[in-house]
Amino acid sequence: MALLEVNRLHKSFGGIRAVNDLTFSIEQGEILGLIGPNGAGKTTVFEVISGFTSPDSGGVKLNGHDIVGLKPYSLCERGICRTFQLAKPFLNLTVLENVMIGILAKGEPVKTAKEKGNEILKFLNLLDFKDIQAKFLTIGYKRRLELAKALSTQPKLVLADEVMSGLNEKEVMDTMDILKKINGRGITLFVVEHILHAIMALAERVIVINHGAKIAEGTPAEISRNERVITAYLGRGFSDRFQDLSKEKR
Ligand SMILES: Nc1ncnc2c1ncn2[C@@H]1O[C@H](COP(=O)(O)OP(=O)(O)OP(=O)(O)O)[C@@H](O)[C@H]1O
Ligand SMILES: [Mg+2]
Repeated sequence: MALLEVNRLHKSFGGIRAVNDLTFSIEQGEILGLIGPNGAGKTTVFEVISGFTSPDSGGVKLNGHDIVGLKPYSLCERGICRTFQLAKPFLNLTVLENVMIGILAKGEPVKTAKEKGNEILKFLNLLDFKDIQAKFLTIGYKRRLELAKALSTQPKLVLADEVMSGLNEKEVMDTMDILKKINGRGITLFVVEHILHAIMALAERVIVINHGAKIAEGTPAEISRNERVITAYLGRGFSDRFQDLSKEKR
């Protein structure tokens, strides 16, 4: 059974169909990519799965159980955690305190929350910043703190919304390594990203949406030569470069 099944999901805002008849599933342990042009509906898909908004119709099942209508905190208890496209740390709390909150919410005492919080920060190479108020972090580290906050809730599935946007190439590489390490711990990742070379290298499978509807699904290699995807989003230049890179690797 798939970890998460999304079935014929619809969500409109007034006249805008943000998500249109979307069906897909996420397998336990995989890294699944979700890409598409600006306004395609990617964040809305995350909002629905994580309970921040309800769909107009359609189903979402976690381990076979219907989760539509459950609140974010309840979904978090069941193992679904999302990051925010615009990083949302508690600005006046320290980096460690930001991470402790998710652990305290699991009912752990303060001492344990501190220990586990430090472990998570070490795992994400954030330990040097633990006593700094989150508002003083650069955007790159704020995005990494989003991942640390997600991990603090002991998730099964993390929905990562553009955690690499605005980062320089070195930071993108570091974040890719971190995402692989998180996945190596058995945590399933659903990743929205516009940095194409990163998502194509990271994801085992990619779903492409446009105007809320799925236009393709497949391996990065399949997606990169899909004509509909090239026309709607990738462009011929990326597709050619990706094919060249794949040939070099072979
Ligand atoms: N709360 C809202 N109220 C009204 N319209 C919304 C709301 N949220 C999203 N939309 C609209 O729904 C569509 C999909 O938006 P969404 O943010 O999901 O796209 P996206 O694929 O995440 O885009 P981006 O790549 O720019 O982050 C857009 O047209 C957006 O303007
Ligand atoms: Mg978005």
